[in-house]
Amino acid sequence: MSAKLRPIREADIPHLETGASTPEGSGDFQWFGFRTFHQLRERVAADGCLGPDGGAFVVECAGAVAGWVTWVKHSWGPEATSWNWTIGIILFPEFRGRGIGTAVHKELVEYLFAHTRVERIQASTDLSNVAERRALEKAGFRQEGILRRAQWRMGKWHDQVLYAVVREARE
Ligand SMILES: CC(C)(COP(=O)(O)OP(=O)(O)OC[C@H]1O[C@@H](n2cnc3c(N)ncnc32)[C@H](O)[C@@H]1OP(=O)(O)O)[C@@H](O)C(=O)NCCC(=O)NCCS
Repeated sequence: MSAKLRPIREADIPHLETGASTPEGSGDFQWFGFRTFHQLRERVAADGCLGPDGGAFVVECAGAVAGWVTWVKHSWGPEATSWNWTIGIILFPEFRGRGIGTAVHKELVEYLFAHTRVERIQASTDLSNVAERRALEKAGFRQEGILRRAQWRMGKWHDQVLYAVVREARE
């Protein structure tokens, strides 16, 4: 099953909201309780969720909303000189385990290197999230380290793994 990334439309928002409003829909590693989608609605109306400090795309599969990807600015120093992107992804259950996550990571990396001046794209995920770790590795990300007890989720702290792909290594 092939997937493509495209900007979020207003009509997608109810699908994203329904899809991500349960632990099953978000996935155990992305369930942090109920969250408001008002800000997403406002952002889509304001700038299509495609601003200079980050954005989001829908993952579309055979005309269906299969999930979404996000990228936000993060800095390891002064933002003007040291910013990079941190990416995230949720695929809804029926679209997992079919190679879509791997393909979408690759497509997002290509897009961000092509259309922004970023040097480094990073992602972190739970130590136990084998599917995301493999999808990142297959998309060219390298493991950089373990972030101990970095994330509070479902009543306890979880270690995270930091991954990144850098432009220089691809040239
Ligand atoms: C994590 C996620 C994006 C991965 O995408 P995906 O389309 O399911 O993964 P793929 O089909 O591309 O598979 C990638 C690799 O993970 C493996 N994999 C897939 N699902 C797996 C599972 N449930 N358990 C273990 N390995 C799994 C695949 O076998 C493949 O590895 P391989 O090529 O070595 O065999 C997707 O499952 C998802 O959105 N999950 C819920 C939300 C989430 O966890 N997001 C990331 C949080 S940071």
